[in-house]
Amino acid sequence: MRILVTGGAGFIGSNFIRHELSAHPEHQIINLDKLTYAGNLENLRNIENLPNYKFIKGDICDKQLIKSMEFDAIINFAAESHVDRSILDSSPFLQTNIIGTQNLLEASRKKGCRILHVSTDEVYGSIATGSFTENSPLQPNSPYSASKASSDMLAKAYFETYGLDVIITRCSNNYGPYQFPEKLIPLVIYHAVEGKPIPVYGDGKNVRDWIHVMDHCKALDIAFEEGKSGEIYNIGGNNEQENIYIVRMLLKKVAEKTGRKEDELSGLITFVKDRPGHDRRYSIDPSKMEKVLGWKPETSFDKGLSDTIDWYLENKPWWSRIISGEYVYYYKTQYGERDKQ
Ligand code: NAD
Ligand code: DAU
Repeated sequence: MRILVTGGAGFIGSNFIRHELSAHPEHQIINLDKLTYAGNLENLRNIENLPNYKFIKGDICDKQLIKSMEFDAIINFAAESHVDRSILDSSPFLQTNIIGTQNLLEASRKKGCRILHVSTDEVYGSIATGSFTENSPLQPNSPYSASKASSDMLAKAYFETYGLDVIITRCSNNYGPYQFPEKLIPLVIYHAVEGKPIPVYGDGKNVRDWIHVMDHCKALDIAFEEGKSGEIYNIGGNNEQENIYIVRMLLKKVAEKTGRKEDELSGLITFVKDRPGHDRRYSIDPSKMEKVLGWKPETSFDKGLSDTIDWYLENKPWWSRIISGEYVYYYKTQYGERDKQ
């Protein structure tokens, strides 16, 4: 089977391609990626010469390009993915996440092929108690999550209207190797290493459910191979944590691994103005994935974080190139200056 993987040069997509090529060497992967600031071919160096892997630089919004490509299924990771950026400028989010997805849905419709649309728990909005099931209403609160919710609704509409073979997955916060260092966990690790202030938004008590990226990739593989057309599958780590707890846990581990003093690293924590519209708590109920498709997360948070820190410590050249400006990446937010480079 020839699978068109979009956004495969990003964090989750590149981990997924590596997993897929080893779990299903019979598949061919065509990785279509626009190589925005978040796309990085270095993420795929160790598999780029495999005969069943091919990279194409291109935009999922490009109708002619998608039409000219040959494939038997699509897995759509391509997106603008960072909430803070969507608050500063939502336009690329609407373009890629909505129009780009619609273009891929059309392509699947014309070819009559399966499409797995990779989405997020953020489409459900914030929840004070209990957990989101697949039937929870969509109540997105950021331009990013609103764009993802729109694409989910389009995907569902294509199933209802055209009987498209579509699967939607909604996962919680991923962490692991190759995550772009604007996201909380890699940002804390590299700021600790570099002795930079660590910005904690608001009171630091917002709750996220964290899952190791490899557990997410395995769930996607199963949903793609065995999922039922038109279904939505929640994916989560059963691992809710307050941000400040994660920051402190990371600093403790970085101190142990580098011989630095934990107190010194804790002194880098800087509470800053809150993210506007900051969702207080996400909580995902992944029991459908567990009961129906027999998947469950395997990586403990303690081990997963430890391995992730090791990866960032061992791969400083990877993130140094990113933060050095080879990939343009610095900006001010309206809620306080952060990440001065
Ligand atoms: P990422 O920002 O690391 O990677 C996104 C990739 O998409 C990049 O390689 C980028 O170059 C590419 N891209 C962007 N616009 C494109 C376009 N128009 N055409 C082709 N390629 C384009 O994102 P990620 O964290 O790997 O997330 C991947 C997907 O998973 C996204 O759809 C995101 O919404 C979803 N998701 C992410 C998380 C998370 O915690 N990171 C959790 C749940 C769901
Ligand atoms: O829930 C899934 C989502 O997780 C994905 O759909 C998104 O693509 C992904 O970016 C992530 O969104 P979050 O906004 O939850 O992730 P982020 O790493 O940006 O922030 C995690 C939490 O940490 C959030 O409550 C904001 C807070 N934070 C983040 C940064 C970058 C800080 O306190 N300081 C920071 O510097």
